[in-house]
Amino acid sequence: MAGLVMAAAVVVVAAAAAAVEGLGMNWGTQATHPLPPKVVVQMLRDNGITKVKLFDTDFAAMSALAGSGIEVMVAIPNKDLNTMASDYSNAQSWVKKNVKRYDFDGGVTIKYVAVGNEPFLKTYNGSFINITLPALQNIQNALNDAGIGDRIKATVPLNADVYDGQLPSAGRFRPEISGLMTDIVKFLAKNNAPFTVNIYPFLSLYLDDNFPVNYAFFDGGSTPVNDGGVLYTNVFDANFDTLVAALKGVGHGDMPIIVGEVGWPTDGDKNAKVALAQRFYAGLLKRLAANVGTPARPNQYIEMYLFGLVDEDAKSVAPGSFERHWGVLRYDGQPKFAMDLTGQGRNTMLVPARGVQYLSKTWCVINTNAKDLSNLGDKINFACTFADCTPLGFGSSCNGMDTNGNASYAFNAYFQAQSQKEEACNFQGLAVPTQTDPSTNACNFTIQIKSSAATTATAPVAAGALVAVAVAAAQLLLLW
Ligand SMILES: *[C@@H]1O[C@H](CO)[C@@H](O)[C@H](O)[C@H]1NC(C)=O
Ligand SMILES: *[C@@H]1O[C@H](CO)[C@@H](O)[C@H](O)[C@H]1NC(C)=O
Ligand SMILES: *[C@@H]1O[C@H](CO)[C@@H](O)[C@H](O)[C@H]1NC(C)=O
Ligand SMILES: *[C@@H]1O[C@H](CO)[C@@H](O)[C@H](O)[C@H]1NC(C)=O
Repeated sequence: MAGLVMAAAVVVVAAAAAAVEGLGMNWGTQATHPLPPKVVVQMLRDNGITKVKLFDTDFAAMSALAGSGIEVMVAIPNKDLNTMASDYSNAQSWVKKNVKRYDFDGGVTIKYVAVGNEPFLKTYNGSFINITLPALQNIQNALNDAGIGDRIKATVPLNADVYDGQLPSAGRFRPEISGLMTDIVKFLAKNNAPFTVNIYPFLSLYLDDNFPVNYAFFDGGSTPVNDGGVLYTNVFDANFDTLVAALKGVGHGDMPIIVGEVGWPTDGDKNAKVALAQRFYAGLLKRLAANVGTPARPNQYIEMYLFGLVDEDAKSVAPGSFERHWGVLRYDGQPKFAMDLTGQGRNTMLVPARGVQYLSKTWCVINTNAKDLSNLGDKINFACTFADCTPLGFGSSCNGMDTNGNASYAFNAYFQAQSQKEEACNFQGLAVPTQTDPSTNACNFTIQIKSSAATTATAPVAAGALVAVAVAAAQLLLLW
């Protein structure tokens, strides 16, 4: 059945207003149906976003970014750290294949290489403790040897749990890894590379029921934390300045800090709500635009990457059901709430993705004529193992439905995840397809989009852009 093209022709895009200086986006792709990379890059440009952070060096994403002028942080996943650490020639090959290859006029403007992602998280049980620094060293040295190390810096995006402190001014690196952190900081400093940290006020609230809600936001209303006369009114500043103190403690209090991830999810928890996300970003962006800085680094602009661009329905939910709902845009590139990236607090929406193609308007729901319902629980569990049912949970958008509602939600989620394959809406006769939208005001029964692979050939792209991309791709091949 023909997919319907969403309003591609009628969207009139005003010249993109430039986003706040220093603002970037995390572009994660752990979705059953990721948006086509070209659509994503166009959307970034339509929104005036000039920096993007990837979690890999996916060729299609890099090709789409070629010639865009968008500054890119590429990444080496944790699973590849050992390879990079164990042999310098591996790091050299990686740099050649994933950085050098794109480094030409009209190629990709790579600024940073993220070596691993939060490798010292306690949940990794120290698996990456011994290999992260050698990997960082090998990659930066390979960049240096390739003659691009002055422009392209390796850094390690770290979770804020690498440091602690009762008060920001008492910040220090976690004792078990303080020696390692000191060595990392010294290596970064020697190469004029930034420290990268992910800061999540949402998680402060999620992990501690006694956390003062207003302290997670930027509009006051909570008792300030008094640090020797310096008043902290939000946990973001307190967290950032704890890092500044920890850096000072190892002799590098002036090291540039990049906030690699910051954001607020919109579903999957009682505090993961559209209204709260809107409030969080509004406060954050206003402060960014005003270059407020933090008490330890006042009047400075902060380079930061919002997490994230779009929802990812295939992310692990080990940290919590909210994991799949971090997008400032939905899975299909539609904005969820008003957000002004210029930081002027205007009531504007992000420019949606253009040219997105949807699957047909077919949902899958419970078959109310089914006689034997004894397997229903098992079938729901099966569907939810392979599809995203997090909106059904407590505090989420589809919580509180009856058994039939739950079953329909699960069956539809599975059916869409399976790209509406006919056999994916059967469940031994317990499910039937329907053309009637079962969504309610609060709960969306989604229709999936045509996945990247399916739309690559047909995505409407302006002729000029297509040629530019083709040329860039040809150069990429030549330079490999
Ligand atoms: C870490 O250790 C715990 C308990 O020993 C284990 O359950 C978990 O799977 C381990 N995680 C990793 C990433 O190895
Ligand atoms: C890291 O190195 C230390 C010291 O050599 C060793 O005791 C530890 O087992 C290593 N950890 C891992 C995960 O390999
Ligand atoms: C619907 O599913 C949710 C999430 O699994 C569960 O908490 C709730 O009890 C279910 N409701 C019914 C009526 O089965
Ligand atoms: C459901 O999706 C529509 C767009 O298809 C959107 O306008 C609406 O806000 C969504 N509702 C929820 C609760 O996410």
